[in-house]
Order: sequence, then structure tokens, then C-alpha cells
Amino acid sequence: MTANPVAAPGRDPALPIRAKVKHLAHSAIREIAHAGMAADDVIPLWFGEPDLPTAKFIVEASDRALRAGHTFYSHNSGVPALRETLATYSSRLYGRDIDVDRITVTAAGMNALMMIAELLIDPGDNIVSVTPLWPNFFRCIEIMDGEVHQVPLTRSGDGWELDLDRLFDTCDERTRAICVNSPNNPTGWMMDSETQAAVLDFCRARGLWLIADEVYARVVFDRPVAPSFLELATPEDLVLVVNSFSKTWAMSGWRLGWITAPRALESVIENLNEYNVASPSTGTQYAGIAAVRDGEPFVAELVERYRIARDIVQQRLGTMRRVQLTRPDAAFYAFFSVDGVTDSRAFAKQMLSERKVGLAPGIAFGEGGEDYLRICYAKTPELLGAAFDRLEPVLDGR
Ligand SMILES: Cc1ncc(COP(=O)(O)O)c(C=O)c1O
Repeated sequence: MTANPVAAPGRDPALPIRAKVKHLAHSAIREIAHAGMAADDVIPLWFGEPDLPTAKFIVEASDRALRAGHTFYSHNSGVPALRETLATYSSRLYGRDIDVDRITVTAAGMNALMMIAELLIDPGDNIVSVTPLWPNFFRCIEIMDGEVHQVPLTRSGDGWELDLDRLFDTCDERTRAICVNSPNNPTGWMMDSETQAAVLDFCRARGLWLIADEVYARVVFDRPVAPSFLELATPEDLVLVVNSFSKTWAMSGWRLGWITAPRALESVIENLNEYNVASPSTGTQYAGIAAVRDGEPFVAELVERYRIARDIVQQRLGTMRRVQLTRPDAAFYAFFSVDGVTDSRAFAKQMLSERKVGLAPGIAFGEGGEDYLRICYAKTPELLGAAFDRLEPVLDGR
């Protein structure tokens, strides 16, 4: 009998694909969402995206570009005018010269994270990541046969705290990178500039990459932009900063983002883009140019909406007797614990079936989040009010 060449050791003969991919965890957020999506009386607070549609001037820019014939592949690294626009935007925002050759346009943040995993991880390598964290990057690392070593934030008063010594001590000889998502999904925690400098120094001394997921950089309430590693890194530092149009310009469905990388990686990431998506959608990239060039009033409007929503969350959810809630200054999530709740998945299912509100279970976000629930509050005050009315009988212990 000839051996089946696809049924390599460790593969299920009935479905001979990589075991790593076959057993890749399904998102616990999706698990709850899929259970609730069919019902039309559920208030969905599970996914993290703006509730407003993309502004008209952005849609029209894409429409114009497509009608003008921009319907072909673009350069692997992105439409030159978009890369220029992003370089100018980043340089202005962070007060540093960020050259266009450091910028690669990607099919949103998710694809940027997958490419970073492809770039850095050999089998058995690990990354050390601050958690809780939106889990998708962890799955990218696992697809590449790497591991994630988690360092959980801890609750401290009104916010969250990172034990830097623990972060550094978790790095071992197989560590390739430290991953920091700030502002953080799900906690809203932000790393301050001083801590960023310490992490960057550690990475420099150890020859580690620093992966900074900054997709919420502009969703911040007490300043125009969150502290960024781009303010500190030289063009040669091993720093990869991931950004996205999804949150800042309410463009989650367009799938557009970018990576800012050391200069030396330009042609490497360009090449990786070729084998991932060839180039991000061309019409979408023209929408991106309009968003960045003319979108500041729209960004300000969105952030103000989120600030108002954040305050409603504090007033309603924050005063319910069984709820412990922090006061985030960034992103658009409330990450809260409930007295007596230790199984966030079971509690989210219960709230879905009994109260018809869709919550994301904290267990989805890794270590430090197991007992928590997340809501995305990028919603109207009316919708949030209705959700809290439904949750109140349970969360207020009455
Ligand atoms: C922390 C974080 N990084 C990256 C992403 C990816 O966003 P997108 O792929 O829409 O750019 C998300 C989306 O929720 C996120 O929360």
C-alpha cells in the first residue's frame, strides 16, 4: 500500500490538515455572538466596532477612484499617495520624521498582525504579551507554531497596572518579541511614555522585537493621541507598530490598515504582502487617503460620541451593586467583573438567554480576564440605556 502523502504523522487521516490549524481555538466572543445573532430581540454589545457608518466624504472618495479606473492591483506596499499621506500624518501626530519607506499599507490590522507572525516566528519561538488582549494575534502566533507567554495586568484602584519586572522576567531564550496593545482592548489601559521607554530599552538590550498594536491610538479621551512607541523609536529600532482605519475612521468593513516598520524591512514586508493579499483593495486605499487628509472633524465627532457613551456606562453600569468597573480613558470598552461570577462564558450565555444582551466573555482575552465581561459602548445612548435596563435586575442584585 502506498502511503498517503498528505496524512503526515499527527494528522487526522479523515481530514489530513495541520493539527495546529484543525485545533485552533474558536473565538469565545464569536461563540456567544453566533448563539445570539439569529434572534432579533438581542442587544449586541459583543463586537468592537463603531456603530456609525463611514462618513460620506470617505465613501465618495472611493467611489470616485473606482469610477476613474483605479480598479487594478496597487503596488504591494500600497498606493504611493496613501503611503505619503500616512507618513505625513504620523510625522505630524508624533512630532518625528517618519519616512514613507517605513510604511506598508495592509488589509487592516488583522492582516498586519498575521504578517508580523510570519515575519518573526519559527516553530518553538515565543512572544511575551501583556494581557488581557483581543486574542486574534495569539492565534496568528500559534498558526506559525509559536507560543504566547502571557503577563496579565492587575487591577489597581480605578485602573490597571503592569508589573514590568514580571514582563521582563517572562522573556527567555526563545522569546522573539514583546507585544503591547495600548490603548488596550479590552481594558482601556494605556502604557505611559516612561514605561514605553523602559520596554523599548529592554528590547534594545536583549535584541527583541517590540510589537505595538496601536489601533486605538486616536480613541482617547484626555488627549489627542495616546502615547506611542513611534515617539520613541528610531528608524532602525526593531519596532513594528500596527495601525488601522477600522476604529479611528469607522471603517471596520473596508479592511485597511498599515504597519510602520524599520526601514530595512521595506522590501521584506512588501514581499510578504504579495503572498498574503498582493495589495490591499485599491478603491479602499483611495478612501483611506480622504479619511486621513480630511477626516479630523469626523474623528473628533466619533471620539466625543464615545466619551459621552463612556460616561453613561460609568453612571449606569458603574453604580450597579454587583459590578466592579474601571474608568478607561481610551478605547470603547467597559471591562467589568460581577460579584459571584467566575465563569464569564457561562454568565455571558446566561445574559444572552435571560436578559437578551450580548456580552463578550472575558475568558476570550487570556490571562487576567477570565472573570470579566466586556461590552463595546460605541453605541447610542438609547441602545446602551436599553441594555442596562435589561441587565440591571441581575447586576444590581435586586
Ligand atoms: C487590539 C486590536 N488589534 C487589532 C484589531 C484589528 O482590527 P482590524 O483588523 O479591523 O484593523 C482589533 C480589532 O478589534 C483590536 O481590537
